[in-house]
Amino acid sequence: MGNKKKLRSQEWFGTSDKMGFVHRSWLRNQGYPDDYFTGKPIIGICNTWSELTPCNAHLRDFADIVKRGVVEAGGVPFEFPVTSLGETLMRPTTMLFRNLASMDTEETIRANPIDGVVLMTGCDKTTPSTVMGACSVDLPTIVVPGGPMLNGRFRGETIGSGTFSWKIKEKQENENFTKEDLFEAEACSSRSAGHCNTMGTASTMASMCEALGLTLPGASAIPAVDSRKKKMAQLSGRRIVEMVKEDLKLSDVLTRQAFENAIIVNAAVGGSTNLILHLLAIAGRIGVDLDLKDFDDIGSKIPLLLNLMPSGEFLMEDFYYAGGLPVVIDELRNVLRKDTRSVNGSSIIENSKGAKCYNRDVIKEYDKPLKKEAGIAVLKGNLCEDGAVIKPSAATDELMQHRGRAVVFESMEDYHQRIDDPDLDIDASSVIVLKGVGPKGYPGMPEVGNVDLPAKLIKKGVKDMVRISDGRMSGTAYGTVVLHVAPESSIGGLLALVQNGDMIELDVPNRKLTLDVPEDQLEERRAVWAPPEPSADRGYVKLYLDHVQQADKGADFDLLRGGSGSGVPRDLH
Ligand code: FES
Repeated sequence: MGNKKKLRSQEWFGTSDKMGFVHRSWLRNQGYPDDYFTGKPIIGICNTWSELTPCNAHLRDFADIVKRGVVEAGGVPFEFPVTSLGETLMRPTTMLFRNLASMDTEETIRANPIDGVVLMTGCDKTTPSTVMGACSVDLPTIVVPGGPMLNGRFRGETIGSGTFSWKIKEKQENENFTKEDLFEAEACSSRSAGHCNTMGTASTMASMCEALGLTLPGASAIPAVDSRKKKMAQLSGRRIVEMVKEDLKLSDVLTRQAFENAIIVNAAVGGSTNLILHLLAIAGRIGVDLDLKDFDDIGSKIPLLLNLMPSGEFLMEDFYYAGGLPVVIDELRNVLRKDTRSVNGSSIIENSKGAKCYNRDVIKEYDKPLKKEAGIAVLKGNLCEDGAVIKPSAATDELMQHRGRAVVFESMEDYHQRIDDPDLDIDASSVIVLKGVGPKGYPGMPEVGNVDLPAKLIKKGVKDMVRISDGRMSGTAYGTVVLHVAPESSIGGLLALVQNGDMIELDVPNRKLTLDVPEDQLEERRAVWAPPEPSADRGYVKLYLDHVQQADKGADFDLLRGGSGSGVPRDLH
């Protein structure tokens, strides 16, 4: 093998005693020959396949192609399932379960005879959860992104997954959009296997993995049903075996520089704000210092190069045909950190050198960007002492500096009850404030920050308003939406004290978010404020409530930060 280091799996399979017999014998029921146990690298194929996660439904068969590559390279693949998180079905929100899925991934890898890991990912949280878990073990690991759906097509129009759903209320109010129209649009929107085809969170996470160096070059944008996706999967299977032989671990790839590259690339592709939470959590697991300010310092001056929904007009399929992420990386070569190593041993800059762009409408040149500054702006102020974020590329320029009167909703239920009340005292200059949607408050920090505008204002043609909350926003959504306010309202952040009629000032160029209420009034309000009842007193949700950190810490559990390594646990004796 050319590798002197003893394989971890040999602690299970490499002995001739009773336990060696036990470890091998039961696996033999699947018909494995002797040489599967005599020193070949054992590769765990960590699969997030589930029919309840439609974006990952194709990964069941897809794993077989990865296995083909593993076997070709002299490894032995063992596929295992982990908790899968389907964005569109799980209630109250998949984010509540991201840390649970990461625990499942971590413990399953460590407890088993695995030398290297392939993470098969797709839908939003299935990428960060598995990467976080794998980081806490730190074995050689490669990510195989499941790939986006093909472009949606509806009545001659190209439609993006998710992005279209934000327009439904507007269409129903203004265009007599019927139930039949809706049914037809649903099928047209999701017309192949794969995850959302916009630069939503799933595409953002896949791009993040490629920018971090966790995938083979060019892997992230290939559509799920494109035959080249299979080729990439097979090559990834081959490569992970080599990585085990080279002992190229996650911590060798995930350096501070790699994280900085991920922030830069995310800005250039107009990626989802959810990246902030997940990247902070991943950094916390692998032991790299990263904080909220880094996203602004490193990313906010980066130009937007990718013309993809929701920031632009095209979809992931177009992105792939235009050349994919290697073109973006090559455009960014002068600003990216050079001293990195991806899973194939080379830096992402080396891997992307000379990448050709086949459609400049989709991927812009660095000097002729779609927008000059595209990254995420991190706000500070009395309303968000530990920070809040806004994605200017998805927002309205005219609202970047705005002072308005607060219209407050105490919860999502309160919002739904009153937002379309014809008597609601609200106009286009108002600031919609939504409380109780943070990590602990909801619980799980759902993607509700970009709440629909009141129907009466939509009818008047209002397209955007400032919205502020402690929640998240779907990566497919857009608008002038301030998110991730920390500390959140349910633990007594100042957001909890905002009342109807208060003046709020948003100043994105100066990174400020201010509640303009005299201090003595705020003290009076604080004196009578009481935290809400906890939403659970048992089970996983209780564990979550006791340990989840705020958004500026990536909403990871305090007890999950860092890792426990890949040491072999005690035998079962
Ligand atoms: Fe799965 Fe969007 S719902 S990626």
